[in-house]
Amino acid sequence: MSIFKKHKIIETNASLLLVLSFIVVTIGGIVEIAPLFYIQNTIEKVEGVRPYTPLELAGRDIYIREGCYVCHSQMIRPMRDEVERYGHYSLAAESMYDHPFQWGSKRTGPDLARVGGRYSDAWHVDHLSNPQAVVPESVMPKYAFLSNAEIDGRYIEDIMKVHRMVGVPYTTEMLDAAVADFKAQADPEADTAGLEERYKKVNIANFDGNPALTEMDALISYLQVLGTMVDFSTFIPDPKR
Ligand code: HEC
Repeated sequence: MSIFKKHKIIETNASLLLVLSFIVVTIGGIVEIAPLFYIQNTIEKVEGVRPYTPLELAGRDIYIREGCYVCHSQMIRPMRDEVERYGHYSLAAESMYDHPFQWGSKRTGPDLARVGGRYSDAWHVDHLSNPQAVVPESVMPKYAFLSNAEIDGRYIEDIMKVHRMVGVPYTTEMLDAAVADFKAQADPEADTAGLEERYKKVNIANFDGNPALTEMDALISYLQVLGTMVDFSTFIPDPKR
């Protein structure tokens, strides 16, 4: 029997074709995916990337709750137009502590991966409260109510424990100090030595300018850290990759 005749048996038998195609695709899939579970360094370690502080983590949860990711991406692709507009392309390590990641899938507004430090805290308060007051043609909704929503970090330790379960290296010391760090980051008068030791280059400020600790403080602390952990003036990509 010629090879074509043998192949005719497969081609004229839909079930057999389906079963054999499935086997071929499975082998292909295993070959591609399985090594990723065994390679120790799927994500290249990069100097400066640290877990979010308790306040930033709470801000990130507000970002997710409010659906900011529906209009904003957090992933700068390595293409010239993007790099010129937003800055250095995103590194895998920069979202290694993001569970779930916030790369997004649509840009109704600009990418936010490197928005940290681009505007002042006061600008963010004005813009989040009433985007059209800052950018008249903006279609972004108003989030002024965040300034009235007081928070006290009551559940933040539990949330950090969950992140630790999925691999974020929160230490026991960080968990024990969670509520204290949560409050200290938004209070420039507080004793922040411990906070600064636990979290490198942490921004400490009364983010929304009001004495009360609110969701606005948390969200702005999160926006201000985005894309600022890696120092790109000294970053050298691993030549082996
Ligand atoms: C309906 C879509 C939409 C949603 C939802 C949305 N935004 Fe926006 N956002 C925009 C658009 C459009 C712009 C550009 C115009 C402007 O600055 O308002 C923008 C701009 C921004 C900017 C300024 C970025 C820059 O580089 O100039 C920030 C920061 C921002 N949004 C944060 C947020 C946050 C935080 C949330 C959730 C609380 C959010 N946005 C929700 C559409 C949206």
